[in-house]
Amino acid sequence: MSVLIERDEPIAVVRLNRPEQLNALSNQLMGELVGALENLDDDESIRCIVLAGNDKAFAAGADINELSEATHLELYFGGRIDKWDAIRKIRTPIVAAVSGYCLGGGCELAMACDLIVASESAQFGQPETNLGVLPGAGGTQRLTRAIGKSKAMDVILAGRFLSAGEAEQAGLVARVASKEDWLEEAKGVARTIAAKSPVGVRLAKEAVLNVFETPLAAGLDAERKAFHLALSSEDAQEGLKAFTEKREPNFKGR
Ligand code: CAA
Repeated sequence: MSVLIERDEPIAVVRLNRPEQLNALSNQLMGELVGALENLDDDESIRCIVLAGNDKAFAAGADINELSEATHLELYFGGRIDKWDAIRKIRTPIVAAVSGYCLGGGCELAMACDLIVASESAQFGQPETNLGVLPGAGGTQRLTRAIGKSKAMDVILAGRFLSAGEAEQAGLVARVASKEDWLEEAKGVARTIAAKSPVGVRLAKEAVLNVFETPLAAGLDAERKAFHLALSSEDAQEGLKAFTEKREPNFKGR
């Protein structure tokens, strides 16, 4: 199995599992990953997902052996693009837990998640220009939105790696944890998110991601609609009531 799933309800941890290849994103791994994420997304008992590699690597990019062997048409029509699109459609929040190498498609995968928790050992990079290509799974777009044009050009054109500290300062990473605690820290963030109203969390994720798709007026309009949709949910009635009754809310995701 190229992907391992550990359920610890209300969260689940999906581990990339090709340690000998630094978790290079083979077609098989991407297929298993998408299948795992879609199953967890359909499962009401899972309210937040952690996506992690191991201490040495989150993922060192697309599988270069597969890239060099496939024809252009196989790469274009072989379902690679569909898999990345499928990840974009997951509604459950995903926390990327990054330790070690997070390069090329690996960095793009971390950025396709909702937030990144990094070990102080993490290194982020888009070294595709070393291979005569460029990021092909969203890197030019998401990295530039995350850290701005000049830094993104440094990473993408010059192939500079960002340390966890630099990536946090630049806005790519939400939290940095020690080399020992990175996964626990990410699970803690996931448990915190999982304790909130699933209605509020899913609609908020959608609204935040809308920033990258729409002009401000349309984004504000969509947020307003999502807010009123959330207000009409049982979760909102419960959350508001629990606050006034000075007790913890019991959210059901309805
Ligand atoms: N694809 C396939 N195999 C990979 C790989 C990748 N992206 N990255 C590492 N590996 C393999 C190595 O070939 C090696 O295998 P063998 O033991 O069989 O030789 C094993 O993983 C360990 O790697 P190294 O011996 O190279 O480990 P290192 O610690 O010396 O170096 C590294 C680590 C700097 C990350 C180096 O492996 C490296 O530069 N990897 C490639 C990084 C890269 O260019 N990524 C971009 C890929 S293209 C892409 O992602 C396109 C896209 O946008 C979708």
